[in-house]
Amino acid sequence: MPSKHEMAKFLTMGIQEKAKHVHESYIRAGGRSFVAVFYNNLMQTSEDIRKKFEHIDLESQADALARAIIMSFLFVDHNHQTATKSLDKIRESHSRHNLNIAPELYDTWLACMIETVAACDPQATEELLTDWHAVMSIAINHIREGY
Ligand code: HEM
Repeated sequence: MPSKHEMAKFLTMGIQEKAKHVHESYIRAGGRSFVAVFYNNLMQTSEDIRKKFEHIDLESQADALARAIIMSFLFVDHNHQTATKSLDKIRESHSRHNLNIAPELYDTWLACMIETVAACDPQATEELLTDWHAVMSIAINHIREGY
């Protein structure tokens, strides 16, 4: 008979393992080119979001975001120093004192990212999209809570 602990481990995939699957999905979806598709989709979601990017060069922005997405995967491990430093910087730049990104906009951002994954990763499943949500929420909540 497996112990209770062994059963729990069997039934619930750890967040690290989810992050690994999400990273593989990101690569299948196109990596850097997936980010470009995401930005095009994001601009169609909300006028408030589109306005924020009005004077921004989306090409260099996509490079910065591609790096931040990888950092978000690593950030599921709160002891990861490089990821923590990177997310702390974004938290500061997106706060009310700087870019002033309203907290509710992140829900639209994440929903758009998951729709883009569903369209770009040929192996996307409902379970994988749920993992994307769980993994990205950790970084996004960190940014949002710094508002
Ligand atoms: C609706 C949500 C968001 C909006 C409206 C938004 C908007 C912006 C804007 C206007 C910039 C400035 C670009 C520039 O000045 O060149 C920026 C930069 C950036 N954003 Fe966001 N952002 C959002 C969410 C996020 C999230 C969730 C992440 C990370 C997972 C992220 C990562 C970055 C990075 C890495 C930069 C460049 C470096 C920096 O300014 O910190 N953003 N964002």
